[in-house]
Amino acid sequence: MSDSQDLDVLLQEHRQFEPPESFRATANVSDGALYDSARADYEGYWADRARELEWVTPFTTVLSWKPPHAEWFTGGTLNASVNCLDRHVRGARRNKAALVFEGEPGDRRTLTYWDLYVAVNQFANVLKSLGVKRGDRVAIYLPLIPEAAIAMLACARIGAIHSVVFGGFSPESLRDRINDSQCKVLVTADGGYRRGSIVPLKRNADKALEETPSITNVVVVRRRPGAVSEEAFAEMKEGRDLWYHRLMRGAKQWCEPEAMESEDPLFILYTSGTTGKPKGIVHTTAGYLVGAQSSTHQVFDLREDDVYWCTADVGWITGHTYLVYGPLANGATCLMYEGAPDWPEKDRFWELCERYGVSILYTAPTAIRAFMKWGDQWPAKHDLSRLRLLGSVGEPINPEAWMWYREHIGGNRCPVVDTWWQTETGAIVISPLPGITSTTPGSATVPLPGYSCALLDSSAKEIPVGGGLLALTRPWPSMLRTIWGDDARYVETYFSRWPGRPDLYFPGDGAKRDENGNFWILGRVDDVLNVAGHRIGTMEVESALVEHPAVAEAAVVGKTHELKGQAIAAFVTLREGFKQSSSLRDELRNFVGEKIGAIAKPDDILFSADLPKTRSGKIMRRLLRDIAEGRALGDTTTLADPNVVSSLKDMYEANES
Ligand code: WTA
Repeated sequence: MSDSQDLDVLLQEHRQFEPPESFRATANVSDGALYDSARADYEGYWADRARELEWVTPFTTVLSWKPPHAEWFTGGTLNASVNCLDRHVRGARRNKAALVFEGEPGDRRTLTYWDLYVAVNQFANVLKSLGVKRGDRVAIYLPLIPEAAIAMLACARIGAIHSVVFGGFSPESLRDRINDSQCKVLVTADGGYRRGSIVPLKRNADKALEETPSITNVVVVRRRPGAVSEEAFAEMKEGRDLWYHRLMRGAKQWCEPEAMESEDPLFILYTSGTTGKPKGIVHTTAGYLVGAQSSTHQVFDLREDDVYWCTADVGWITGHTYLVYGPLANGATCLMYEGAPDWPEKDRFWELCERYGVSILYTAPTAIRAFMKWGDQWPAKHDLSRLRLLGSVGEPINPEAWMWYREHIGGNRCPVVDTWWQTETGAIVISPLPGITSTTPGSATVPLPGYSCALLDSSAKEIPVGGGLLALTRPWPSMLRTIWGDDARYVETYFSRWPGRPDLYFPGDGAKRDENGNFWILGRVDDVLNVAGHRIGTMEVESALVEHPAVAEAAVVGKTHELKGQAIAAFVTLREGFKQSSSLRDELRNFVGEKIGAIAKPDDILFSADLPKTRSGKIMRRLLRDIAEGRALGDTTTLADPNVVSSLKDMYEANES
């Protein structure tokens, strides 16, 4: 929160863009009165949104709020897969494309709502035949292929709780996540494609499976017949490992959906926190689906003929809410692309947009900054005239990147929606509505109808204009309900920022508010990094480093990075008998890659005899950040030994040049 310079830059941003008239006329939300009515009758507003879902039994209570625990829409029962599939196949969308898939090597598949419905029913029966019951946990470790959505929805159909683990995570990360929630079945693939090579998912999974006693069966999707080489692929373990395509061949096409209670968990998704262990964020059936369905409808303004593309992987919350549940609940046609944006060339995204006639694109600032760097010529080669709306998510978007996105991708014609939310919020909280909000580059603008946000100081006093801590001041349907197996950590992490106020949710972000009431998100105030839009706890990286036999102590900080938003800088002290070297540096980087995944590899590692500490022994990350960012050092008077930090700074600078 020492970003006062950023603030000045942001507040000088006066460019404003009104929604195009054509857009305003037909938008799903074209009247700002919705904000007022939501404010006037908060519970009534959400009850109306909830009635847009299909229920088995209608709910009787809208909200029970015993801070910090909320229950929404209790008394009712419903099924998420029915809301995403059955209600469409009963009507005119039966033969509409639901998922349009393209693999990185160029293989293509289109699944209609009917196709997806049949596959989900079949896979639900497969899971049942493996003994998976309502409430059991199923781990999903797949590439971004249709089977990921099929597996998620099949779990939802039988009331099993899915836990999707991003395919880029290491065997150890997978193991820890499986063990934390005691998953019964793992769904994985022989491999997936990334930048032309095969990611050996099954081989990684096999390593994890050495220490996951709760797993009874592994279902393996064959990514492409004959494509995954022998060496990339491990053996099928008899009795435990089963091929997806064989199981599906014999599976019945109808599986009775479980009538789930509103508050029954739908899924767990792990995310980074300030301590080493990732948090299993728990989302429930009704509230989550209400948030996903209504925000997709309002923010992405879906129409029947849209081709909608959210580029996120299902391993992240954006892939859950805006690639699977939100768009499918709305009956949309969704593009799903497996691979990298620069494979085989740097215009792959624009080629896809042109070929499929994408009309709505939702991607991340880190990707937009890479596109800017690669040059305007790549999008210019393609006809992007079908695009009508652009979205951004994952980290603050710089005004230059926002403007470039609007001009070079949106042809100065498409509204840009900068959407702020989190794994924990389940759905978008702060965002423009494309038909009514005037936008300014860099601001996510105002909370959606039904949400109540404020900027607070440390004593919970509201700051109407200026900088402070972002808070959500009322519960909302798609909020997390707890951390799996650790409710105390839920209370502590999210509802203890303001003592005596367990009704105030703290997302961990700082923000500014301007005279027009618009919010400008500044980023994390805690020790969580945001690398290329992905949250990584400093503690996770530090713990991984310290596991290496050469490392005595490690401190990790984020530093500004042109493309990734933040890069990771690590300060490492070695144990006696170990010498610093560039090969040890590479070894440590790879070690972190193996422990957590490639996204967590430090960009810089500086070896140092000592780390700056307070007299009570706390590492002063603030000073390490100053060093990594090349700034003048802040206050060093509380240090036990002020010399440590100045010599570190000299070393760091010598190292960089
Ligand atoms: C950051 C991703 C600024 C923020 C959906 C948040 C953003 C964290 C934005 C959540 C945005 C996300 N502007 N910052 N539009 N969107 N963030 O859980 O710091 O992976 O707390 O959810 O990303 O990351 P998560």
